Amino acid sequence: MDWGESTRRSFLKQFGAAGAMALAAAHAEGMGLPGGQAATASESAADQKQDATRAQRMEWWHQARFGMFIHWGLYSVIGQHEWVKEQEGVPIPQYEILARHFKPKPNAARDWARLARRAGQKYMVMTTKHHEGFCNFDTRLTDYNAVKQGPGRDLVREYVEAARAEGLRVGFYYSLMDWHHPDGAICKTDEAARRRFVDYTHGLIRELLTNYGKIDILWYDVSWPLTPEGWESEKMNEMVFELQPEIIVNNRNGLPGDFSTPEQHIEAAAVGRAWESCMTLNNSWGFNRADDAWKTPQVIVDNLATCARGGGNYLLNIGPMPDGSVPPASVEVLEAVGRWMDTNGSTIYGTDRGQLVPNASCNYTRKGNTLYVHVHGWPGHTPAAEWLDFYKPEVVVAIGGLKAKALSAKILKTGQKVEFTQDEFSFRLTGMPMEAPDTPATVIAVECDSEPTIDHSAERPLWPRYKVGISI
Ligand code: GLC
Repeated sequence: MDWGESTRRSFLKQFGAAGAMALAAAHAEGMGLPGGQAATASESAADQKQDATRAQRMEWWHQARFGMFIHWGLYSVIGQHEWVKEQEGVPIPQYEILARHFKPKPNAARDWARLARRAGQKYMVMTTKHHEGFCNFDTRLTDYNAVKQGPGRDLVREYVEAARAEGLRVGFYYSLMDWHHPDGAICKTDEAARRRFVDYTHGLIRELLTNYGKIDILWYDVSWPLTPEGWESEKMNEMVFELQPEIIVNNRNGLPGDFSTPEQHIEAAAVGRAWESCMTLNNSWGFNRADDAWKTPQVIVDNLATCARGGGNYLLNIGPMPDGSVPPASVEVLEAVGRWMDTNGSTIYGTDRGQLVPNASCNYTRKGNTLYVHVHGWPGHTPAAEWLDFYKPEVVVAIGGLKAKALSAKILKTGQKVEFTQDEFSFRLTGMPMEAPDTPATVIAVECDSEPTIDHSAERPLWPRYKVGISI
């Protein structure tokens, strides 16, 4: 993956001028300058204040690295993806009937929170209102909410309490796009409708950030059909920070916010810019009974390491069923990830961004001068060891292109010290067990004398080449 120019290009494409400003600020931060030094005259006082407090507000989040996303709403009752209303053209009066039949068991969120903690996730982000427009929380602004309809209770309150009970940080997802509100589409062309709809939107966000105590993350989504000016996003964020001075916000109300949100792929932002990849466990965010394309624990652990390697976070989704239960396949995967995190969490939490290019068998993370080699393709014994000294003695994990002197190495799962050899081109961990000591990846901690970097392909032009010509 290219952490450099392509990331910068897509960032600029995504955010235009506002993004360019944030990028300038991000670069300034990366160079050790306070974000404020990159601020231009056009940056508002509120923006500058957010820049000034960003590092402190986001400290816990950078440590955390791993969060749980929860998509839950009326769509779970149909069980065919959270876009079912639009994708299948369900008329509003029909869709509204779902609200009467959405009757989840009490406190389902407790099970989500316990599962998140067992999986090693440090924060949660739940859909308070998805595109369907149904509010999972109590509100004075619409009856289309969980207290007045089927559930008869405030599902967001249950969620907040459940997360706190497990010591997890609390995030609210909020979709600006609304398929249900009468002004949700015409607000683009009708000023009176826009006024009403923006007041409604700001009003709901105000309630969310007033009625549930301290909220750690506001996760905006889809800003169709308005521009940031139309949404009055500057004013929106100002209100948010006034109500919750410690909160962090994402970039999906059209402003740069505190972090970028690559979706269903992993792509690091420019150095100094925070980012979080959000991904599904199968292919759907909302419960979809037909979707059994579950990712394996190995894929999840590898994705988590890839995010950590690029200095980013991983927000992994569950789509609870209409009664609130988590699909058993999701539970199974998250528990396996949690067992791995029990041993290897320290190779994810609080790690530093690294210049570390993975190979076919290994991924990497880094903390200071410690390199964590995540071996997901355990080599076992290669028959080539019979002829090649390179692979003796016995099992060898070899890494090309390590630029730092290794001082010591050990397998985290067993504590076993590992012998190694190192020359200019290859670092070889030798005498390893035949079977992988850990699953789905074995981590080997390698202490180095300086910041470890790895780029095996950079050495292609450098290694000595011999025996050109016909010798046989
Ligand atoms: C997309 C989808 C939405 C999902 C979100 C998560 O914007 O519209 O269904 O909630 O991604 O990032």
